[in-house]
Amino acid sequence: SEASKLAAFDALIAENQRIEPSDWMPEAYRKTLVRQMSQHAHSEIIGMQPEGNWITRAPSLKRKAILMAKVQDEAGHGLYLYSATETLGITRDEMLDQLHTGKAKYSSIFNYLAPSWADMGSIGWLVDGAAIANQVPLCRASYGPYGRAMVRICKEESFHQRQGFEILLALMNGTEAQQRMAQESVDRWYAPALMMFGPPDAESPNSQQSMAWKIKRFSNDDLRQRFVDMIVPQAEFLGVTLPDPDLRWNEDRGHYDFGELDWDEFYAVLRGSGQANALRLAKRRAAHDEGAWVREAARAYAERAASSERL
Ligand code: 3HC
Repeated sequence: SEASKLAAFDALIAENQRIEPSDWMPEAYRKTLVRQMSQHAHSEIIGMQPEGNWITRAPSLKRKAILMAKVQDEAGHGLYLYSATETLGITRDEMLDQLHTGKAKYSSIFNYLAPSWADMGSIGWLVDGAAIANQVPLCRASYGPYGRAMVRICKEESFHQRQGFEILLALMNGTEAQQRMAQESVDRWYAPALMMFGPPDAESPNSQQSMAWKIKRFSNDDLRQRFVDMIVPQAEFLGVTLPDPDLRWNEDRGHYDFGELDWDEFYAVLRGSGQANALRLAKRRAAHDEGAWVREAARAYAERAASSERL
């Protein structure tokens, strides 16, 4: 009966067991996983654009090679996550259609422009740093394919974060102009990176259920706090100032206090009126159209290979 299937599912979750594609699961569990995992995949694919735009303008062959490797990694992360989401009964075409028609969300952070080379440092250090803080707990997500995809992704993310930190370190050890470029970039990326963790817990409609199902292991605010505590000493080491006058150590809490974030800006970006929403989607749709011939060729080849086997 439905009741006994639900009891078995709840027991698996209670014992920290994995739910696998062939297991029975509540429809709402499947739906919230499709929502989060597809949006996570979209984030990786759209996330390729800010850095992709800098590959031809990287200041050295070393930086160009690193950036190419990072962008390729993001593409791979997107494919792992799309494949993991397909195990829940949605097709790749349906997910891409949701992205291309603006129905699906992707991480707010990629709707910010990256006008300066130092942004490649800030994105690596802050954006991938935040992504790691968010993704490490997801390695223990109750849905098997999602947790396992995260393990591989987290390994590659730590290289992304380190190379970004190193770009900023090189700039801060450079000329006055380079130091100013690094600081100006950190000024732009600090607050949007904190907003990547999602709205405050009190305004997070999905968190409670997502935590009950052990998809989300820590709340948005907990992870955000953990991230701030991590980047303050790193900023001091770099010699950059985090643009937050309210940032200060709170002995009683054992954490850093930090300033209010601009949630009006966050929701405006989610509604599509960020700096780069239209640009990112237009680029994505164009890439999809330009890639149609590759998909067509792969399909034709697969059909011919299948028919020759039948002969
Ligand atoms: N950007 C866009 N939408 C966001 C958001 C953000 N930063 N934070 C929250 N939202 C959306 C949620 O998707 C939800 O909308 P929906 O119900 O239509 O999906 C709404 O705002 C309310 O937020 P909730 O806190 O209730 O939603 P969640 O419980 O899903 O928590 C989350 C939000 C923490 C982002 C969670 O979805 C999550 O952990 N997702 C996976 C992590 C992820 O997407 N990371 C992307 C990082 S960037 C990246 O990976 C590329 C990097 O490698 C460079």
